[in-house]
Amino acid sequence: MPGDIDLKGIHHIELWVGNARQAAYFYRKCFGFDLVAYRGPETGDHERASYCLRQGSVLLVLTTPLGHLDPINSWLATHGDGVRDLAFEVDDAAAAFASAVERGATPVHGPIDIEAADGAVRKAAIRTYGDTIHSFVERGDYGGFLPGYVRHEIKGQNVGIRCVDHVVGNVEHRCMDTWCEFYEQVFGFHKFVSYDDKDICTEFTALRSKVMASADRAIKFPINEPAKGKKKSQIQEYIEFNLTAGVQHIALSTEDIIATIGMLRENGAEFLDVPDSYYDTVWDRIGEITEDRDKVKELKILVDRDDNGYLLQLFTRPLQDRPTLFVEIIQRCGSDSFGKGNFQALFEAIEREQETRGNL
Ligand code: FE2
Repeated sequence: MPGDIDLKGIHHIELWVGNARQAAYFYRKCFGFDLVAYRGPETGDHERASYCLRQGSVLLVLTTPLGHLDPINSWLATHGDGVRDLAFEVDDAAAAFASAVERGATPVHGPIDIEAADGAVRKAAIRTYGDTIHSFVERGDYGGFLPGYVRHEIKGQNVGIRCVDHVVGNVEHRCMDTWCEFYEQVFGFHKFVSYDDKDICTEFTALRSKVMASADRAIKFPINEPAKGKKKSQIQEYIEFNLTAGVQHIALSTEDIIATIGMLRENGAEFLDVPDSYYDTVWDRIGEITEDRDKVKELKILVDRDDNGYLLQLFTRPLQDRPTLFVEIIQRCGSDSFGKGNFQALFEAIEREQETRGNL
């Protein structure tokens, strides 16, 4: 049996987009990311332009193809803007790649050294669900983002995003267990929690979800699949617009969600609508919290509690015209669950939007 793959965490998340320059402006102005590095024609890459943005420990990379023959074009035609790579940092990319492939992962490319005047980084990559990949990034003592990028700093207005809390994948009907087994076999993840279609359903639509986590729970990947309901599951709507499985949402954590959501709303971020009636009963369920309840209601933030504590969360509307990728903002106050008590309210809100798109 090959050795365990020691993942040091999510190094960066790369999105392939139709217009990286405009997308970078959106993530900077709306979500408060700093632009930190760039590669493109001006730095010697005549094929693609990439912008690296940072807030807290979150690194986002936005990449767009420049030439019409670039294979990214067909990826974009199929999926629209979305997540291509959930890249892990590792100590030894070659060993991680060999171990992953031996455990059944499909290779994208073996170890390659990316070199520039200021140093080198070794990368390899495997496939995961849909057209999504996991890169293994071995940085060594490289000081910049990645070789080939130049520092290009434009400050955003930080909204308090600290790190990636979890990343959710939507997979096809009856594929959830297969992908959970993949994370168990390849990375040694364990099933942290699961929700069946009775936990997450309305009168019309349903989904199932299992959360896979690394041993220290630093990496949490919930996997959703559509379940049968009277009408089309929101997961099925995603699959139809993305054509395959893919990343549904990236959850970003904050330590002050009232400030973060306040600033995001001011910046024009659009969130799923939470009905006022949600707050009629929520405090009976949740009990005392440290935050100002009136502020929580005013900013339409969702609240949930489990045995260990509570959490506050809110979900953006899809970030592009296709109803695919969105962002969650989450503040954990002891709770390490995923807001099961909000699934119903959330699911109904998504369903109302799905209906306005004519996809229910
Ligand atoms: Fe989430």
